[in-house]
Amino acid sequence: MTRARSAGHLLIVFVSLTSAAVLLSAQEPQPPKVSPARNNPHLGNKESIRSGMALYRVRCADCHGLDAKGYRGPDLTALVGDMQDEKLFQTLRKGVPGTEMPGSTAPDDELLLVIAYLRNMNAASAAESAPTGNVENGQRVFTAQCAGCHRIGMRGGRLGPDLSHIGAARSRSALVREIRTPAEWFPPGYETVTLVTKDGQRVRGTRKNEDAFSIQIMDTRERIQGYLKADLREVLYEKESLMPAFTTARLNDNDLNDLIGYLTTLRGPDSTVR
Ligand code: HEC
Ligand code: HEC
Repeated sequence: MTRARSAGHLLIVFVSLTSAAVLLSAQEPQPPKVSPARNNPHLGNKESIRSGMALYRVRCADCHGLDAKGYRGPDLTALVGDMQDEKLFQTLRKGVPGTEMPGSTAPDDELLLVIAYLRNMNAASAAESAPTGNVENGQRVFTAQCAGCHRIGMRGGRLGPDLSHIGAARSRSALVREIRTPAEWFPPGYETVTLVTKDGQRVRGTRKNEDAFSIQIMDTRERIQGYLKADLREVLYEKESLMPAFTTARLNDNDLNDLIGYLTTLRGPDSTVR
């Protein structure tokens, strides 16, 4: 019995040593190579574009939309026009660290097919996606209604996420949904929770960290607070956002359009990501 067990242990040690060796050899520095995107044989080829579309639908459409106009991820019809093929290839390979944009381990050729598809689509719809709305008015609306909770650059509140980079990170349609119906989706770290302490006090905020024994939140006055769960009566996970829903009564369609126009110009570095 004991002997069988220790043999088992030895086997585990052996297996983890070999897999460590495999990992190490995989990480050996490789000589820099020319980007496969430099000579993409699929550009402009009808068959390739169709295969690229099929791959796109499976791997990208969930986040960027079937029409690539964006959903959680940004509108690619607008973005891809500004990007060199080699940069695009690298983005598909590596993803965008610190964001939801994943990297890929697919063969080079499949990434090249997707690029051929995106290029073709981009040519068709580049003109439609120029920013619209009165950006100056949009900025005024932002300062009045949003800056209390959201930072851009160094200014603004911290209860909601930093929006310095939001124009590159989300599509127009995702922004509209977020503003009209914020409870639909919460970015990680911004779920609403209410903590009820043993003596019946309630503290509401966004959940920053949680494990089996403790929870850390930012309360509505922007104070980070940590609690041991043993000291709490209850943790309530809420469906409502701490961001109010900006219905048409609060924000009319014109102001919303201007606001979206302003938000899409925000493409700077984000202090919380990267
Ligand atoms: C899980 C969601 C998700 C999936 C799947 C996904 N993306 Fe993204 N993608 C994003 C997000 C979010 C961003 C914005 C990242 C940021 O904040 O800059 C993004 C950014 C991009 C960018 C712009 C990068 C930059 O430097 O501005 C390109 C191009 C892109 N995605 C293409 C694709 C393609 C093509 C696929 C499929 C092969 C794909 N994405 C799959 C979510 C996703
Ligand atoms: C009382 C605080 C508060 C106000 C005011 C507020 N927000 Fe928010 N906002 C939040 C919080 C908290 C979240 C995260 C939870 C969620 O997504 O609903 C959020 C999320 C967002 C997101 C999603 C970010 C992402 O990564 O997708 C956008 C966009 C946004 N807000 C824009 C706005 C705009 C535009 C206004 C003004 C019209 C505004 N907010 C007003 C608190 C606020």
